[in-house]
Amino acid sequence: MPSPSTTPDRELFSEERSSEVVAASFAGTTDPRLQTVLTSLVRHLHDFVKDVELTEDEWGAAIGFLTETGQACTPTRQEFILLSDVLGLSMLVETVNHRTGGTATESTVLGPFHMVDSPVRELGDDIALDGKGVPCLVSGQVTGPDGDPLAGATVDVWQTNEDGFYDVQQPDVQPAGNLRGLFTTDEEGRFWFRSVVPRYYPIPDDGPVGRLLAATGRHPYRPAHLHFIAAAAGHRTVTTHVFVADSPYLDSDAVFGVKESLVREVPEVDDAARADQVGLVNPFRTLTFDLSLLRD
Ligand code: BEZ
Ligand code: FE
Repeated sequence: MPSPSTTPDRELFSEERSSEVVAASFAGTTDPRLQTVLTSLVRHLHDFVKDVELTEDEWGAAIGFLTETGQACTPTRQEFILLSDVLGLSMLVETVNHRTGGTATESTVLGPFHMVDSPVRELGDDIALDGKGVPCLVSGQVTGPDGDPLAGATVDVWQTNEDGFYDVQQPDVQPAGNLRGLFTTDEEGRFWFRSVVPRYYPIPDDGPVGRLLAATGRHPYRPAHLHFIAAAAGHRTVTTHVFVADSPYLDSDAVFGVKESLVREVPEVDDAARADQVGLVNPFRTLTFDLSLLRD
């Protein structure tokens, strides 16, 4: 026992040095990366509380909000990822981890509506199984960083119907696999398929994240887009979208997913012979999106 006149060799919690005191408690962490991440997280959290002088009511409200966010999660709904999405965190993590230096197709968020086993399709197939919507020919070429065509690359696509819903959101309305497909590029790295022009749509907003958007005067919409995952042996897989240039909400995507390099015009083609050739009714729209992949 130290005598009362001796200063004990310990540092107790104080407002001034709160984050250093907590960081010291991680000294025994065997994983150095975990220690780095936790130490930085605590520093930023403590700085945040001091910055806004968080009240006890606000702390309680935050705990309540996070609890409800967890309770809204089900096997088919991930409200925490949605929260990360609307705070721009998902896009930041995506962007930090997939820097291209302007030499390849930029990535954007995966979103919750990807199917791990997309239906395998042949080049030229029509993925609009319900026959609704404005017909659109989607095509492009997958290349390496030097423009070398990537034959045998896979191109996984999914999109909403003209009402702004994915097939998995309307299992009783849309045929399973509607507006999605897994294609393989030809010898020149090219892909093409028939679809419809996608539409803007709201992210799920009937839970805590929707309330957060409403409380901050934000809308829940995403601009019209078509999702892509392009993969080729020896190259880095890219998860991205192409956005429709005249869509509403391009400048206010609820999840901050838009990058200028991913926006494309979807012009109308009025050419009966060409429509006949590609198997679409005339007139139709065309969406061209080339993808360039970095080497592994
Ligand atoms: C989507 O594009 O499918 C999406 C992305 C983030 C949140 C919700 C939906
Ligand atoms: Fe989407």
